Amino acid sequence: MKTKTIKYCLASCAVTNKLHFSIRVLSQMRCLSKTVSVVKCSTGCSVRNYVTENDGSYFFNKMAANRKPSELREIATLVAKLPASAINLGVGYPDVNTFPFNGISFELVTGECIKLSDKELAVALQYLPSLGYNLLLNKLKEIQDYFHGPQDWNTRGILITCGAQEGLSKSVDMFMQHGDPVIVPQPAYAQALDLFRAYEPDFIRISQDANGVVVDEMQNALKTRKLNNQPMPKVMYLNPTGSNPAGNVIADSRKREIYQLACQYNIVILEDDPYYFLNFLEKNPASFLSMDTEGRVIRLDSFSKVMSSGLRLGFATGSASFIRKMELAMQNSSLHPSSLSQIMAYKLLVQWGIEGLKLHFERVKKYYRQKRDHMLRAVEQNLSGLAEWYEPTGGMFLWLKIKGLEDTRHLVTSTCLAKMVIFAPGFAFATDTKKPSPYIRISYSVASTEEIDKGIALLAEAIREELKSIKTQ
Ligand SMILES: Cc1ncc(COP(=O)(O)O)c(C=O)c1O
Repeated sequence: MKTKTIKYCLASCAVTNKLHFSIRVLSQMRCLSKTVSVVKCSTGCSVRNYVTENDGSYFFNKMAANRKPSELREIATLVAKLPASAINLGVGYPDVNTFPFNGISFELVTGECIKLSDKELAVALQYLPSLGYNLLLNKLKEIQDYFHGPQDWNTRGILITCGAQEGLSKSVDMFMQHGDPVIVPQPAYAQALDLFRAYEPDFIRISQDANGVVVDEMQNALKTRKLNNQPMPKVMYLNPTGSNPAGNVIADSRKREIYQLACQYNIVILEDDPYYFLNFLEKNPASFLSMDTEGRVIRLDSFSKVMSSGLRLGFATGSASFIRKMELAMQNSSLHPSSLSQIMAYKLLVQWGIEGLKLHFERVKKYYRQKRDHMLRAVEQNLSGLAEWYEPTGGMFLWLKIKGLEDTRHLVTSTCLAKMVIFAPGFAFATDTKKPSPYIRISYSVASTEEIDKGIALLAEAIREELKSIKTQ
């Protein structure tokens, strides 16, 4: 392979999915032939792959490094691949014939009815390998290939999780050590901060605007730490699409710059992206996974926002070595997410195919876009002069800064509640929840348009009362 050809492919790596694939194949070939990485891709990253060249051990904390396979769960994985005719005197599974369910069927919004066959019912009622239901895993690989460019599944893996949250918690618990630095957006998803907080980390907070996290700030923070010989972060947490609570989408160009920084400073990106299909853009944004030539992205997807949060299904995609450690953690925690949920999702994906799925995503997207527009109109009518905001470009949230209020704690937890209207206070999304925050998060997902109108009018009333009481104090 001539260097010129390689350079050409790499320089175009963010352009098409086909080229992404060629990069991975090239990178793999280089690793296999034990060639030291010499070329640069358009993000400026050296082409290495932590799976083949590096087993990921630099990133693992002690617990993850010590995690060994659970022998019986490993056998369960093998057993799942054997024909049904194999005589199983080995595993400690219950007999599904003793269970009270005789049949399971479900109806879709399109009117289609899906009935599980006897064989599928038996799978739905039984334990599964910890990685997930094999047929669903294959479908998910097709989905990732379609939306994020063809992946090299020899070096990447997928773990089915109980929502994106479980993938996130397993990632955090695999990498973080007490007191470690970690990059987080400000504000950030509260349950992500809670996960990190348990490690008493050194939070490196990066502010956001309408186009996502501010890259210059991240660059300066990393540069300064390096110059000052401070410990460098191994992990960066980002919630790129329809961020909770900020409502923004990280611009593709910023993502490329961030990915470049991650390569430069050897950082893993936790791409927590449950709102990916709820973006209000012309086309889906480029994911970090689609740019990942170095195996340093763990992408966390979720069915919660587009299929059902009650299914508790998500999936983590990343380097095989990372996914393997997460699988080992799964072997010792919940064993695996619900088999019934996994088979329901599988049947739905088979029934609809990618095209049907896309149609459904469009329906959901349209619904939230209309709700967003209604919310924006209500906010403009009632809150002009009282608050500042930007238009959410995805997700379910509007992030609002109240003018003249240093802290929204009393406004939300007292004045608004007295009016029977609920908002999330800004402090809940900060790394230091004790600090005052002038923000509130407004959700436009479940409230009806009438409730939105009424709720925002009540908010305006509450803000005025709050400002008045501050002046008279
Ligand atoms: C940013 C973010 N990440 C993860 C989750 C968890 O979602 P899941 O239901 O997939 O676990 C949520 C849910 O609100 C979220 O907003």
